[in-house]
Amino acid sequence: MITRLFFLLTVISLGAWFSVASAAGNSAAQVYHKECSDCHIAYPTAFLSTASWDAVLNSLDKHFGENAELSPGDLQSVKSYLETNNYDQSRIKSRYNGRFDTPGTPLRITETRFFQALHHEVPDRLVSGNPAVKTYARCESCHRGAQNGSFDEDDVRIPH
Ligand code: HEC
Ligand code: HEC
Repeated sequence: MITRLFFLLTVISLGAWFSVASAAGNSAAQVYHKECSDCHIAYPTAFLSTASWDAVLNSLDKHFGENAELSPGDLQSVKSYLETNNYDQSRIKSRYNGRFDTPGTPLRITETRFFQALHHEVPDRLVSGNPAVKTYARCESCHRGAQNGSFDEDDVRIPH
C-alpha cells in the first residue's frame, strides 16, 4: 500500500498531470472534449493505457449501457488524440517506473491502480453510500474544477 507520505514526498503537483486533456488549440483534443462530454465529463486521459482506450473506442455501440457511437471522422480524431495522450506516455508511468501499470485492459479509469491509489483513503460511505456522489465515475461531484479539466487537490470537496 502506498502511503500519503509517499505522495507528499515525491509529487509536487499531481493535479497538473491530468490537465493535459484540456489543451486547447489542438483539433483532435477539441473533438475528444466535445464528443466525450455529453453524458459525463471529458475524463482525464492519463489513467488508461493505449490498449484500454482502444477497447473503449471499439465498443462505443455498447458503452456502459449506452450507445456512444461517433461518426468515422470524429472517431479517427478521438483515436489519434487518445493514442498520444494516455497512461503509456504519461508522467505517472515514467516517474514511477510502471509501478502503477494495471493488469488487463479495464474500460474504467476507476479500476486502474493509480486511480485507486489516489482514492484509497476515501471511505465508501462518502462515495457509494453518499446520495450526493453515488459513484466515482462522477468526478465533478468532488472535484469542483473537473469540468474544466482541473483535478487540483485544493479544489476537492466531498459533498454530504
Ligand atoms: C450517451 C452517453 C455517453 C457518451 C456520449 C459517452 N459516454 Fe462514457 N460513459 C457513459 C456512461 C453511462 C458511463 C458509466 C458511468 C457510471 O458508471 O456511472 C460511462 C463511462 C465511461 C468511462 C468509465 C468511467 C469510470 O468509471 O472510470 C469511460 C472511460 C468513458 N465513459 C469514456 C467515454 C469516451 C472516450 C466517450 C467519447 C467517445 C464517451 N465516454 C462518451 C455514457 C456515455
Ligand atoms: C468522493 C469524492 C471523489 C470523487 C467522486 C473523485 N475523487 Fe479524485 N480525489 C478525491 C480526494 C479526496 C482526493 C485526494 C485529495 C488530496 O490528496 O487532498 C482525490 C485526488 C485525485 C487526484 C490527485 C489530485 C492531486 O493533486 O493530488 C486526481 C488526479 C483525481 N482525484 C482524479 C479523479 C477522477 C479522474 C475522478 C473521476 C473518474 C475522481 N477523481 C473522482 C475525491 C474524489
